[in-house]
Amino acid sequence: MKRNNLISRKVEKLAPSGIRAFFDLVLGMEDVVSLGVGEPDFVTPWNIRETGIFSIEQGYTSYTSNKGLYKLRLIIHRLLKQRFGLNYCADEEILITVGVSEALDLAMRAIINPRDEIIIPEPCYVSYGPVVELAGGKAVNLPANQKDGFKITPQMLERACNKRTKGIILNYPSNPTGATYSHLELERLNKVCKKHKLLVISDEVYGDLTYDCEHVPYPTLKGAQDYTLYLNGVSKAYAMTGWRIGYACGPKPVIAAMTKIHQYTILCAAIISQMAACEALYSGKRSLEEMKREYRRRREFMYKSLNEVGLTCSKPQGAFYIFPQIDASGLGCLEFAGKLLEEQKVAVVPGAAFGSNYDNYVRMSYSTGYSQLNEAVVRIKSFMDRHKKNIKRK
Ligand SMILES: Cc1ncc(COP(=O)(O)O)c(C=O)c1O
Repeated sequence: MKRNNLISRKVEKLAPSGIRAFFDLVLGMEDVVSLGVGEPDFVTPWNIRETGIFSIEQGYTSYTSNKGLYKLRLIIHRLLKQRFGLNYCADEEILITVGVSEALDLAMRAIINPRDEIIIPEPCYVSYGPVVELAGGKAVNLPANQKDGFKITPQMLERACNKRTKGIILNYPSNPTGATYSHLELERLNKVCKKHKLLVISDEVYGDLTYDCEHVPYPTLKGAQDYTLYLNGVSKAYAMTGWRIGYACGPKPVIAAMTKIHQYTILCAAIISQMAACEALYSGKRSLEEMKREYRRRREFMYKSLNEVGLTCSKPQGAFYIFPQIDASGLGCLEFAGKLLEEQKVAVVPGAAFGSNYDNYVRMSYSTGYSQLNEAVVRIKSFMDRHKKNIKRK
């Protein structure tokens, strides 16, 4: 069959993920230390895996309610109430999804009319722009500077809003910088969101991984629960990326609209994974704290070591990423990542994957064992020594 309009124009226009394209190069190479992947190096804690196995043994092999297992929604309801005083109705205000990824896609398709604008602070997770565009909306990028800690200011947000602005996708702690917002910073941003009646899509998938401060969920801000879609999941906090469970909590009409799309396209998240997620959220706190302690230790090491070799970076406050500036190497991010892989076999992600203003940054993930990180730093040091000398010669 030959047809020149076979693929939709929207999809044809979409650039492939900068991360995936780069990691296709890594596949098949030996002795590579990868600081590229955005997932925990831990396996899912045993009690959670065992629950998955047990649910298969017990014959839990069916569909669940489209909204997800009631038991899981109830656990989420109780958790949010106990920890943050948030009250979400398990029946009408919580939806279980296939990861936060599906929740983001559903949210965009549920709220966007043609030409609606969604504000996306940058640098940001690679999916945000594409899910907005695929839903027929316009992604309005708002690049934040390192001097502001890679966080947007209320003034920036105010300038980006207009009659067509429907919402904003916030993500904190951030992928790729590890930056997070304080209560005061969020309150200031919230004034602007409220004034412009924005729906705040708050991606808090790293919310349990903060190291110096308490995480402040967006819907806990005064009045904000009414116009916030709170997204979270078990992928990062419980090392469960492959189980694919996320959840969305928000206003009834938004959850109902998302559920409509979800029931036609996905039906429900896998029952075995939902059972395992119940166990994670019910009794996974100890394993979470252990993993967090280890991430904190690695963060200290990476922050100190990278600054020592001339890759200046701010200290990440959460998640498991660090976003050094690479000016001292004299290379752009694509060249830096390409040469570092070729010469030293260390894989990092070029900053340009997270926004067009970040081609003098790279993202490194410290969800890699301590000895691997040590080895990576030794290799990065010789790489920097060589390239700094090249700059001097020029
Ligand atoms: C900021 C952010 N949101 C969402 C996701 C997707 O998470 P999930 O595995 O829950 O789909 C990721 C994965 O890297 C992420 O970094």
